[in-house]
Amino acid sequence: MTDDLFAAVGGLPKQKEALADGAFLLHGYACNQANDFLEAVHRMALQSPFRQMETPGGYRMSVAMTNCGAVGWTSDRHGYRYSAIDPLTGHPWPTMPADFQDFAREIAAEAGFPGFSPDVCLINRYAPGTKLSLHQDKDEVDLLAPIVSVSLGLPAIFVLGGLKRQDPGRRLGLRHGDVLVWGGPSRLRHHAVLPIKEGHHPATGNCRINLTFRQARG
Ligand code: SIN
Ligand code: FE2
Repeated sequence: MTDDLFAAVGGLPKQKEALADGAFLLHGYACNQANDFLEAVHRMALQSPFRQMETPGGYRMSVAMTNCGAVGWTSDRHGYRYSAIDPLTGHPWPTMPADFQDFAREIAAEAGFPGFSPDVCLINRYAPGTKLSLHQDKDEVDLLAPIVSVSLGLPAIFVLGGLKRQDPGRRLGLRHGDVLVWGGPSRLRHHAVLPIKEGHHPATGNCRINLTFRQARG
């Protein structure tokens, strides 16, 4: 009972915060699963290692990435795409663990998006100083399905912008165990992660891990 009502860290109650139509911040909702998720990430990275991808513009992303699921998100000089084969290993990406899938489905339902069935989980690793520039998640076929994003380890400042690039953004502090969901009218909101501050977290050491669950192929 206590487990259900309270997040494992700091005794803070889980709290669902509505941010906009279709956007929610679920404070502490992944605290209980965090260690299992991180162990799985470690295992999966042995199969499909973290790597800093190249952008179509020829830059190297500061964030290191890998994926699990039937497809994975990749970027290179030719563009962004989802691919069933990890270009680094030449093999399929690691299978998405059943507990990842179940968790994402439950969270999406909690945010008003029943029937979510993610086929990919992008795994981002942020070292201190790394960031993600303002962008939209729009490489997925099905833009009706939401994005479910789990924050683990070092905290981050996430900027939730609007549908237009120049719309003002709202800064959100994301801590270990927080889950952000954006879908429906918020699905194409621009967003960014500001440079991660130097620090140490007992669960991850000196990095932040972010999991984003998506329905990439409809
Ligand atoms: C993303 O925008 O795809 C990841 C967001 C995050 O790391 O919080
Ligand atoms: Fe994104």
